[in-house]
Amino acid sequence: MQKSKLQSLEKGKTHKVEAKPFVKWAGGKTQLLDELASRLPFIIKESKSIERYVEPFVGGGAFFFYLKGNYEVKEAFLYDINVELTVGYKVIQKDVYDLIYQLEKIEKEYLKLPEEERKKYYYRTRDEYNRQQETFDYENYNGDWIKRAAYLIFLNKTCFNGLFRQNKKGKFNVPFGRYKKPTICDRENLLNVHVALNNTHIFAADFEESKKFITENTLVYFDPPYRPLNETSNFTSYDKDGFSDEDQIKLSEFYREMDKRGAFLLLSNSDPKNVDINDDFFDSLYAGFIIERVNAKRFINCDGSKRGDIKELLIRNYE
Ligand SMILES: C[S@@+](CC[C@H](N)C(=O)[O-])C[C@H]1O[C@@H](n2cnc3c(N)ncnc32)[C@H](O)[C@@H]1O
Repeated sequence: MQKSKLQSLEKGKTHKVEAKPFVKWAGGKTQLLDELASRLPFIIKESKSIERYVEPFVGGGAFFFYLKGNYEVKEAFLYDINVELTVGYKVIQKDVYDLIYQLEKIEKEYLKLPEEERKKYYYRTRDEYNRQQETFDYENYNGDWIKRAAYLIFLNKTCFNGLFRQNKKGKFNVPFGRYKKPTICDRENLLNVHVALNNTHIFAADFEESKKFITENTLVYFDPPYRPLNETSNFTSYDKDGFSDEDQIKLSEFYREMDKRGAFLLLSNSDPKNVDINDDFFDSLYAGFIIERVNAKRFINCDGSKRGDIKELLIRNYE
């Protein structure tokens, strides 16, 4: 994309733009987009426009970017507790050209290396990324953020399975991944993401903070970390961003509170009935709302050995 085209896109504040997540993220919702889109409120489908959008667990933002490509989203507020991810979003918003410059440099250096050397490069970068964390100023945006965002994207594109995972101390710990020619710098998409982030506010914070911006008719999409489907996939509680049953309960209370405000609420989660037909955890938490079960393809346990059609819950508070 030409700089002049980008500038003209930026001026037309609420135009549609085809962007997709700039990182691969656990629980990414690309597979579920059609199901989600078909359940948007009638008034939004009709008008093709969204006055205000809030996403309290944005992750890679698959649904947000989908909406930006198909609707006029006048204003958006995105939250995630993962501060590294929000560093990425903010840098794309503020300094996309510098980020592209750094990523192109990394890509050039990395791709010309033989595999063993790539592996060393990867672990060197991972170490530096983890070391940098100790002194990094997450509070005040500055030039160091660009390098950190470039590392985030590089590691995400070259690590095993392409995911972002941290240990209890918050250190990124995914091993090296073997790819022939990974795209480290997707220039076109980064520019599109930059444009999509126009009129968008990004926060590294707990989901409850988003209540400040939820008003009547705000569209809110909740995609919290999954409730583990069974014992073997139960590693969320040990995760840095673990989300316990108590958190799920707190979220359902939040949902009821926002319902009273007259916001449009759409929520997805794993369906515990996949493993225990008598497990009514979400059915009771969200009693009184519209609860649907749709097909979703994803791993049912953490070793990925059982993959198949399992159900996902979609819960909304409007017809
Ligand atoms: C299932 S993922 C969202 C995936 C996203 N829909 C996508 O398409 O990539 C859940 C996200 O919630 C975030 N999270 C976990 N606990 C949170 C909390 N208390 N408040 C806000 N975000 C939280 C995680 O960091 C993770 O990015």
